[in-house]
Amino acid sequence: MESQKLRSQNWFGRKGKDGFIYRAWMKNQGTPPDMFDGRPVIGICNTWSELTPCNGHFRELAEAVKKGVLEAGGFPVEFPVMSLGETLIKPTAMLYRNLVSMDVEESIRANPIDGVVLLCSCDKTTPSLVMGACSVNIPTLVISGGPMLKGHWRGKDIGTSDVWRFDAAHKLGQITAEEFVESEACMARTQGHCAVMGTASTMAVMVEALGLSLPNNASIPAADARRKVLSQLSGRRIVEMVKEDITLDKILTRKAFENAIMVNAAIGGSTNFVIHLLAIAGRIGIELNIDDFDKYSQHIPLLANIQPSGENYMEDLYYSGGLPALIKEMKTIIHNDAITVNGKTMGENCATAEVYDRNVISTMEQPFKPESGIVVVKGNLAPNGAVIKPSAASTALLKHSGKAVVFENIEDYHARIDDPLLEIDATSIMVLKNVGPKGYPGMAEVGNMALPKKILEQGVTDMVRISDGRMSGTGFGTTVLHVSPEAAVGGTLGLVQNGDIISLDAHNRTLQLEVSEEELAIRRAAWKQREKMHTRGYVHLYQTHVEQAHLGADMDFLKGGSGSEVARDSH
Ligand code: FES
Repeated sequence: MESQKLRSQNWFGRKGKDGFIYRAWMKNQGTPPDMFDGRPVIGICNTWSELTPCNGHFRELAEAVKKGVLEAGGFPVEFPVMSLGETLIKPTAMLYRNLVSMDVEESIRANPIDGVVLLCSCDKTTPSLVMGACSVNIPTLVISGGPMLKGHWRGKDIGTSDVWRFDAAHKLGQITAEEFVESEACMARTQGHCAVMGTASTMAVMVEALGLSLPNNASIPAADARRKVLSQLSGRRIVEMVKEDITLDKILTRKAFENAIMVNAAIGGSTNFVIHLLAIAGRIGIELNIDDFDKYSQHIPLLANIQPSGENYMEDLYYSGGLPALIKEMKTIIHNDAITVNGKTMGENCATAEVYDRNVISTMEQPFKPESGIVVVKGNLAPNGAVIKPSAASTALLKHSGKAVVFENIEDYHARIDDPLLEIDATSIMVLKNVGPKGYPGMAEVGNMALPKKILEQGVTDMVRISDGRMSGTGFGTTVLHVSPEAAVGGTLGLVQNGDIISLDAHNRTLQLEVSEEELAIRRAAWKQREKMHTRGYVHLYQTHVEQAHLGADMDFLKGGSGSEVARDSH
């Protein structure tokens, strides 16, 4: 009876010419006739690409998912979508997150798919796939690719966060160009995504905390055979989810989003989490705003000692008990009754988890660091908000006033940052404009701009930096990010001039440009758009419709969903 209700039967269950066409061409792949008998058809949405190295092992994982689907009596069908490799795509992978979400949404809806497994790994592949799936809202389960094993170089463990340190050391002549290159292969030595709590790991934690994956999805290393086991079990489970009609909206409740925010604070997740979770909430129809990130992460300490906020790597989180063990530490504050894809609650999934290494997963009473989460600051410089990650910042700089040193865009920054005549000292505040959603376009990860060489030579490692861009989850520093509204739409950020005093007080959640309203009005009247507005293609569509960072930087016409109904039902 249940199989009669499945949407795939609108294709494969048809009689006559249409049914012939739907089935016959599938049979050219060697599909036996009983695959069309009404069993759940499971789409495996694969972001495998050699241009997305973090997802390079997904053909193997897809095979494991297929095994599981077949074992549970389903019909697996793998399909590709555009894949976003963080390291190669220019100008920035974020420009294409919304495009991929459209690809995913339309691919699922247009095809005979009853349930879908999303294979995600590198940063943007996770939010883009989840956003697209939310707009269709069929049973959905996420499998992350898993982190790389930690790197080793010259007797030391290394990971992505060392790229910034090595770059600074190279600038200062502390390591040679040859040594810098030698470390590349030592860092990225196995399949998988960045081994630290960068954005990919943060996204993997996010899907597990939202209840969208099986337990331990976030931390099993990509190279560990148990990643394949998790994939096979996920293949079995999605078939059951279709039979139980567990659609995405039944899992992605308000409680699930609050859990994700709290867990993100406890693990020291990336600031990119904010825009991606806001965008996902917008697709599934949950009211969430930027202030919720501050509200639900306040008073949550940093439990996970993982880089860049700590010392360890994602594999260490797994060996120490994995995310279920960390979430169990939070059992008095999280929503234990939130339902997850395996049909159990978050509390049930974590009940038997144990912590094996307190150096990696600490307790709420004796946390690794007392401050964590996302701080949202507001003021005349960011009326709609900006974000800071205190666990990656210098405590002494969280309250700081200084003179602005302004870079009009990223090219201006590169041209002048190491100019010996640049008037800057360690107390200055570096301001980078026009790297936001519309201005860049695509909101580049350049907010943690490197310090000038002459400042580094003084032994200074951190300064306050403010921009309308983002920061890599592997980055660190006292960086105020996602300033909204951005400079390119006439935000106050665009009016800042060299020498203006800026006051940041993260403890009191304020960010103020100490310039009178009268003076700002004069500057506003003289302000001109200086960044290029594109007139064709996807970038034009994006620039025309992208929303500001505090809303998730989705495109306005993509908010919400259209369900799984197909508008016209004929060839
Ligand atoms: Fe892909 Fe870091 S570059 S996860």
